[in-house]
Amino acid sequence: MNIDLQSICNDVCIAAKSVGSFIKNEQLSFSLNKIEIKGKNDFVSYVDKTSEKKLIETLSTLLPEAGFIAEEGTSTKKGTTYNWIIDPLDGTTNFIHGIPCYAISIALMCNDKIVLGVVYEINFDECFYAWEHSKAYLNSNEIQVSKAASLADSLLATGFPYYDYNRMDEYIELFKYFMQNTHGLRRLGSAATDLAYFACGRFDGFYEYGLQPWDVAAGAFIVQQAGGRVADFNGNRNYIFGKEIVAGNSACFNEFLDVVGTHFN
Ligand code: IPD
Ligand code: CA
Ligand code: CA
Repeated sequence: MNIDLQSICNDVCIAAKSVGSFIKNEQLSFSLNKIEIKGKNDFVSYVDKTSEKKLIETLSTLLPEAGFIAEEGTSTKKGTTYNWIIDPLDGTTNFIHGIPCYAISIALMCNDKIVLGVVYEINFDECFYAWEHSKAYLNSNEIQVSKAASLADSLLATGFPYYDYNRMDEYIELFKYFMQNTHGLRRLGSAATDLAYFACGRFDGFYEYGLQPWDVAAGAFIVQQAGGRVADFNGNRNYIFGKEIVAGNSACFNEFLDVVGTHFN
């Protein structure tokens, strides 16, 4: 079956903005006693769960045959060809502390290939999106990754290890290297936003381990449509389900991957 990805992408952006305004509104009266703890430093609340349910309801009407890989598990329906990969609130720790950087991340996977990605950063009302064979966009304007020529000219984004401490030493050594050999590092607290900011040239690269498919599926796809490169720490393609990702522009990617690979492998 042929589906109109551009039209679906447009509808997904509308759905993300609508759920985004629900999230923004709930933040105004949110208090820490509404948190549930899923695991070490892994928090959730009714806001994540309600948002996911709302998204699933709309996405089910857009593509009834599709299944879901959704962080809060509010639908476990499996699609034979199409599956949505959803993080209803990426940056929950920021959300619960009232720090304005959190996003909705939605990707559509056809068999094992991503064909559509939407990252909606709620507080700045910035919607990043792309579909198969399209350019990448931020609120209707085309975006591209930066043209930084080397790591020495790069500002990098990362996420700190917060539950899997097995690779901490490697992470810290790599962090030291980047502190001394780049423009610096930022930790926004939302991997989807990190990737979206890289896609539009604000960051020159992003790396993190311990990530889940819903953290990266949409953002990594948008990055590629914006001209960026993405891999796991070995330079392979297992960056959606493989829990580690490096993203860089074509000029810096090999250097970036080499440094990350040398520290982690
Ligand atoms: C988290 C954010 C964060 C990253 C974590 C993710 P959540 O997602 O993307 O930036 O460092 O690895 O789990 O829990 O806020 O949806
Ligand atoms: Ca997440
Ligand atoms: Ca989340």
